[in-house]
Amino acid sequence: MSAEKVSITLNGKTSELPVLVGTENEYAINIDKLREETGFVTLDFGYKNTGATTSKITFLDGEEGILRYRGYDISDLAEKSNFTEVAYLLLYGELPTAAQLADFNQKLKDASDVPAETGAILKAMPKGTHPMAQLAAVTVALSGVFGDGAKLSEENIINILAKFPVLVAMVIRNSQGLDFIPNDKNADYVSNFLQMTFGKPASAVLVDAMDKLLILHADHEQNCSTSTVRIVGSSNANIYASISAGISALWGPLHGGANQAVLEQLEAIEKDGGDTAKFVAMAKDKNSGFRLMGFGHRVYKNFDPRARIIKKSCDEVLNDLGVKDKKLTIATELEQAALHDEYFVTRKLYPNVDFYSGIIYKAMEFPTDTFTTLFALGRLPGWVAQWKEMKENKEPIGRPRQIYTGATLRPYVAVSER
Ligand code: CMC
Repeated sequence: MSAEKVSITLNGKTSELPVLVGTENEYAINIDKLREETGFVTLDFGYKNTGATTSKITFLDGEEGILRYRGYDISDLAEKSNFTEVAYLLLYGELPTAAQLADFNQKLKDASDVPAETGAILKAMPKGTHPMAQLAAVTVALSGVFGDGAKLSEENIINILAKFPVLVAMVIRNSQGLDFIPNDKNADYVSNFLQMTFGKPASAVLVDAMDKLLILHADHEQNCSTSTVRIVGSSNANIYASISAGISALWGPLHGGANQAVLEQLEAIEKDGGDTAKFVAMAKDKNSGFRLMGFGHRVYKNFDPRARIIKKSCDEVLNDLGVKDKKLTIATELEQAALHDEYFVTRKLYPNVDFYSGIIYKAMEFPTDTFTTLFALGRLPGWVAQWKEMKENKEPIGRPRQIYTGATLRPYVAVSER
């Protein structure tokens, strides 16, 4: 390998593959022409080693526990910024001036009303429909109102960002069989969301904690849901359909759905008598099919920087609300067990962002099955920024190859007369 090229000899034929180096010295071999030149494709289950794109949005170093949006460290942003400013940063690449931020916030308020049919759509869904299914449905339904959603336009970007918190709040209320609360265009993004969810103004501590949680979830480069948004968008499907697909991908318990799963697991451990050692042993037993939810990460192999920030915020919120929760003790015991247990240490399994977020959401009194909609609300600016970048890069339709391992050609023999 030279700095610029890698030579690979396959079937006696040597192919020279260009090497790409990112601004943070990440190396990639560009295999664009590999099949054409050698007849080979690469195979990488779960894309553990495959870069699907180049991106200027988020930098993540799993070994060092680094997460940066557009070059800004996540802990700086969580401490000093606010969610709509971070959304602007992700979308447009630079922090806004005060005037630009005021204008952006105003546009979000102006465009925040959702279609009149939204409530009826939610109410028409079967009782007990999971909130993520409801959210995916009302999000894709926006395409019925905004015709040219596939176009990369300011209108589409503002529309989805502005309406989404209203949709999430309506879904949360519908899931509990509660009436909807009117959208208040004078309130800021996060306060309005909390007010629409709980039907009363939220305290400054809650608004601040929610804002921080949303920032921490705002982007995470090419994860499962973001890759879904980019790949669906690459077919020229509209932004509402692309985001709705991302919501569905996020729902799974191995991804965003872990925050709900963590809390359900903590509740189960509490109900079982609180013996964390028993559950740690189960997680280590491959035959049990049991995993400790909120532990492990595809990319972070040292610690999840978001989990560190959230843990601190979690302590503050619980203190402020005066919540004394046995689940927090259980969570701390699980964390300690994992940090010192050989199984977890050798596999580099650390608490991830979802481990603590569920405990805060519970203290804030969000119903457990709505937790993942809050992850979606946080992740939205990342999804939209990645969709925008994919359009700007004019990326081709996403279409992986496969290695066929099924039956080879065989004759069809009819078993019955037509
Ligand atoms: N509990 C017990 N064992 C685990 C766990 C866990 N939570 N996570 C991974 N392992 C083991 C796994 O069995 C495997 O062991 P071995 O090498 O002996 O076969 C090894 O660790 C590597 O696991 P993997 O499944 O190959 O790793 P992955 O990169 O494919 O999966 C993960 C990453 C997050 C899906 C996985 O760690 C997991 O299922 N965690 C629990 C779910 C969770 O908390 N998900 C939220 C992720 S953070 C939010 C987000 O960004 O989506």
